[in-house]
Amino acid sequence: MSETKKIAVISGDGIGPEVVAEAEKVLRRAEELYGYSFETEHALFGGIAIDEKGTPLPEETLKVCKSADAVLLGAVGGPKWDNNSKELRPETGLLGIRKELGLFSNLRPAVVFDCLKEASTLKPEVLEGTDLMVVRELTGGIYFGEKFRRETEHGEEAVDTCAYNVAEVERIVRQAFEIAQGRRKKLASVDKANVLETSRLWRETVNRIAPDYPDVELEHVLVDNCAMQLLRRPASFDVIVTENMFGDILSDEAAMLTGSIGMLASASLGEGSFGLYEPVHGSAPDIAGQGLANPIATILSLALMFRTTFGYGEAADAIEAAVAKVLDEGHRTADIAVDKSKALSTSQMGDLIVAAIQKA
Ligand code: NAI
Ligand code: MG
Repeated sequence: MSETKKIAVISGDGIGPEVVAEAEKVLRRAEELYGYSFETEHALFGGIAIDEKGTPLPEETLKVCKSADAVLLGAVGGPKWDNNSKELRPETGLLGIRKELGLFSNLRPAVVFDCLKEASTLKPEVLEGTDLMVVRELTGGIYFGEKFRRETEHGEEAVDTCAYNVAEVERIVRQAFEIAQGRRKKLASVDKANVLETSRLWRETVNRIAPDYPDVELEHVLVDNCAMQLLRRPASFDVIVTENMFGDILSDEAAMLTGSIGMLASASLGEGSFGLYEPVHGSAPDIAGQGLANPIATILSLALMFRTTFGYGEAADAIEAAVAKVLDEGHRTADIAVDKSKALSTSQMGDLIVAAIQKA
């Protein structure tokens, strides 16, 4: 029996609880198969926390998350809270929790499942074999720099500033190198070093620490070129590391390679092995409560947690293989089904994946 790991579960609003319930089934199956031991603690977050506690991120919830080894998050938000003041909006809780937990990088895998290649807008032969990870810096750059407006002789002027220090660059680049070491050992560092000073510091820092990872093949790619190459040769990328704004845009571009929002996992990491794992999609109020949601994004987020926070790579591989197997057999939830009349419910899909998990 392995050491007990503590997971804070904050399932949130809309389809959040529906998809998280399926990931918890997978968690329990992994315990049975691999002898792991997980202690899960559930806490209120988002709109439901506003309704019950008067704030999207109650102190108690933060305490549960901070005392855990990892956090599994569903999704938050919904029309019910859209007209609330800023402090009483579910999305404010998302910003708050990321800040409170010191999460400085965002991992967004984009994997094209062979049987779903037709779901993408790109040609199947271009997508063949695509399995990449965008590592985006989350706490620096132009989104967090000084911003202000001033009067000039040409009228009002707005200013956003982009700043990065060496330490900020180094911690995320080291993390990206380590992630690459656990994958196909290729790292693309994306910048705009031909124009931006922050990018020149970024590139110098990458080059300085690269010798510490001699087994990883490094390439520098300018951001505009990267945007093109993602569409032209997506399968050639393994890990892409980049600053906040470039990562925001490139991770969304990479996500579209796969064709469905219901399949996209993510992680946000801080120091050490702690991480928050969540599907990329939101609370999908349009389908909430009907058992229609695709649980795969959340199940793949759990697999990412196993591999990244706990080092349970074997189980992570088995979960991902189970997802691929179920899809290969033709099983679909409505969002990825061609024939919607044959679509499975959220829990039917979850059960099939649980049943397909096999110990290697
Ligand atoms: P959304 O991702 O919730 O939904 C977009 C579309 O994709 C909808 O048609 C939805 O039905 C579909 N969809 C999403 N996830 C799905 C799944 N697992 N299976 C099947 N279909 C799925 O984005 P939207 O509609 O822009 O936002 C809805 C609410 O979610 C808003 O309140 C928004 O603020 C919030 N949101 C929360 C996020 C989070 O918790 N991290 C992220 C994005 C949005
Ligand atoms: Mg975005």
